[in-house]
Amino acid sequence: MELLFNLLPVIFLLIDNGASGVDTYEVSVKEKDSVIFHTGVKTNQQEVIKWYIYDTRIAQITGDLSKICTDVQCNEGTERFRDRLKLDHQTGSLTIMNISNTDSGLYELKIISSTSTTDKIFNVTVTDVPAAELYEKKEGESVTLHSGVIRKPNDSMLWYFNEILITEITGDQRKICTDVQCDERFRDRLKLDHQTGSLTITNTRTTDDGLYKLQITFNNSSFSITTVKRVNVTVTDSGLSSSVPDSGLSSGVAAGIVVAVLLVAAVTAGVIYYRCRRYHPVPLNENNSG
Ligand SMILES: *[C@@H]1O[C@H](CO)[C@@H](O)[C@H](O)[C@H]1NC(C)=O
Ligand SMILES: *[C@@H]1O[C@H](CO)[C@@H](O)[C@H](O)[C@H]1NC(C)=O
Ligand SMILES: *[C@@H]1O[C@H](CO)[C@@H](O)[C@H](O)[C@H]1NC(C)=O
Ligand SMILES: *[C@@H]1O[C@H](CO)[C@@H](O)[C@H](O)[C@H]1NC(C)=O
Ligand SMILES: *[C@@H]1O[C@H](CO)[C@@H](O)[C@H](O)[C@H]1NC(C)=O
Ligand SMILES: *[C@@H]1O[C@H](CO)[C@@H](O)[C@H](O)[C@H]1NC(C)=O
Repeated sequence: MELLFNLLPVIFLLIDNGASGVDTYEVSVKEKDSVIFHTGVKTNQQEVIKWYIYDTRIAQITGDLSKICTDVQCNEGTERFRDRLKLDHQTGSLTIMNISNTDSGLYELKIISSTSTTDKIFNVTVTDVPAAELYEKKEGESVTLHSGVIRKPNDSMLWYFNEILITEITGDQRKICTDVQCDERFRDRLKLDHQTGSLTITNTRTTDDGLYKLQITFNNSSFSITTVKRVNVTVTDSGLSSSVPDSGLSSGVAAGIVVAVLLVAAVTAGVIYYRCRRYHPVPLNENNSG
């Protein structure tokens, strides 16, 4: 029995090599992201689930659940992933946390049952983390922090300001400022775009200055990716300009603003830049665009 059990994978491997048309999924992630590859099964303890990167086995579950291993145990000390791998004991889904740029490659999933074998490949490409986007505003202005994506129903989006959770979209739930710390700071000044998850802060204050993080989880039946986008907001005292109407800016100040706008454009995805131009042909006042 034990022998048969050990032979099965070999037999199915041989069959499998003859067949073409393995499902391949392109997975594009950034450094520090985490990713979950879904198996789509709920183990009834009959399957053997194996994960490989190229030909190295990095994780496996066998039917009796007594043989679960990830990385270190599977590979006798190669420790490529250290503590960054997690295997879901129920589904065999594999999580890789804190992706590094050396994690690019072909991850192969084999699900072997007594009647069939399934083979999937996740082709992982890792790109660099882009620099934080920079928005510079004067006190009292509004600022819209663009997510740069269109949300799908299964995606979740969480905005943090200096590590405080300020807004959350999950499923069809939308929450803005649910705790005291957030409420004291932003009371009634946050608006969330349902479709994109973009965040508008109205009537900005200098205390809004700081690092905003958008944690997005893209999720479908094949895999899910959790990624963080960083946005750096600086709000300057309005003292300088409060008496100067927009049309009467000195050429020096105007030139400074043009430089700032160019800077923002340079670090912002083309789509966002396009949106800004489209909605604000003269992008001096970025009022809430919804
Ligand atoms: C992620 O990995 C990098 C090295 O690649 C390490 O410096 C950093 O501390 C890790 N972050 C977390 C949250 O584990
Ligand atoms: C994996 O993705 C890379 C980069 O996108 C591509 O060059 C390569 O052909 C892909 N490999 C497979 C097996 O799909
Ligand atoms: C899952 O999403 C990725 C991109 O986010 C897409 O390329 C892939 O086709 C999707 N898979 C399914 C089964 O919807
Ligand atoms: C969203 O998730 C549900 C289950 O959680 C799944 O049935 C559905 O296929 C998913 N939709 C997409 C577009 O991936
Ligand atoms: C992703 O979607 C799958 C079904 O499509 C669901 O089972 C799983 O719980 C979701 N994961 C997250 C992190 O939302
Ligand atoms: C935010 O931008 C300001 C001005 O460019 C810079 O001094 C600061 O270091 C940045 N902070 C972060 C966290 O990127």
